[in-house]
Amino acid sequence: MTHVNWSFETKAVHVGSEPCPQTGALVSPIYQTSTYTFKSTEEAGNIFAGEQAGYVYGRVSSPTQHELERKIAALEGGEACSAFASGMAAIASVCTALLESGDHVICDTVVYGGTYGLFEKIFSKYNVEASFIDTSDIEKLTNAIRPTTKFVYLESPANPTLKVVDIAEVSNVCKKHDLQLIVDNTFMTPYFQKPLELGADIVVHSATKFMGGHGDLLAGVVVGSERFIKEELHDPLTKLGGIISPFTCFLVKRGLQTLALRMEKHNANALEIARYLEGHSKIKSLAYPGLESFSQYELVKKQMSGYGGLIAFEVVGGLKNGQVFCDNLKLIQLAVSLGDVGTLIEHPASMTHRSVPIEERRKHGITDGLIRLSVGIENATDIIGDIEQALAKVETKGAE
Ligand SMILES: Cc1ncc(COP(=O)(O)O)c(C=O)c1O
Repeated sequence: MTHVNWSFETKAVHVGSEPCPQTGALVSPIYQTSTYTFKSTEEAGNIFAGEQAGYVYGRVSSPTQHELERKIAALEGGEACSAFASGMAAIASVCTALLESGDHVICDTVVYGGTYGLFEKIFSKYNVEASFIDTSDIEKLTNAIRPTTKFVYLESPANPTLKVVDIAEVSNVCKKHDLQLIVDNTFMTPYFQKPLELGADIVVHSATKFMGGHGDLLAGVVVGSERFIKEELHDPLTKLGGIISPFTCFLVKRGLQTLALRMEKHNANALEIARYLEGHSKIKSLAYPGLESFSQYELVKKQMSGYGGLIAFEVVGGLKNGQVFCDNLKLIQLAVSLGDVGTLIEHPASMTHRSVPIEERRKHGITDGLIRLSVGIENATDIIGDIEQALAKVETKGAE
């Protein structure tokens, strides 16, 4: 049986985690080295020319990195993968690979603040223009396409509102206009959603989140065709220097071995907590893709096999009461990032999405009082208990 036929869980445990062929060690070693030696200048020349397999320098790759990349490519169902030092290093490298001065990109209005800032503050300096639109509106999307448009970039579900975009539908538009579709799959992970199967060309992740899963590393990955990864992405990877360390590769690999188990628990806990919040008198608005009341529930069922661990909500009384709620939590930690084993909460307007102009934020549902909860794998009753005691401190008399 080849790994192609294995189920997700089996691939997650075994692909890229084979025993060490030299020593028989069950867990292969971390190749913690900055450079590699050659037997002769001839061998060095052949390896540098790509005519012979081998490693040359830590900023180019390492065996531990290759193992991680094989595992992630197998899980996303892509031909190849490249790992980076962070999600932003991965996204910036993909953009650098695809864009030239004079190009135009279409990016969804609801994306991670750092991604918004990358187009708005960095690529704008190199004469690359970005149109921020709601990519789930196919008419708007089609109208935004220009002769210079290179790609469409989206997250689904999006950070932080959890808006879902029909990836297959957007992919059809992209194919018609010869555009690449890049999907950030951080929130779902390949366990619950496979954008390449839905028609995306390139998938990116902040592996800092669910893939690593334990809040102890920063990493990013890109999955796509062999040609894109090996030829087009190679220069940005090695020349911009956003290389991932061998030790971090080891940690992400280990995290991925339990991804399926963790995602099931994140999902089950989040659904239970969302149902609790749905009936609470102090909750003004709530978004969780697993609730029948979620506005895009039918689309969720169509393209995702689970709902994930993220919940977005607003407390009655908006920003002020949201702050009272967050400040009174005891178990749940106030911190950016998500997808960790422990439950985290954050306030996008003052934290992750601060770089998005206030009018833009408000227009697209990132209200001043919006709170993003990343549900961990603790006991759901304990998490609900913490939410309950913090909500009890919120005064809602006269508040809207
Ligand atoms: C959806 C999404 N994409 C990308 C990133 C950037 O990843 P990193 O922090 O690993 O650079 C984040 C970070 O929060 C994110 O939430």
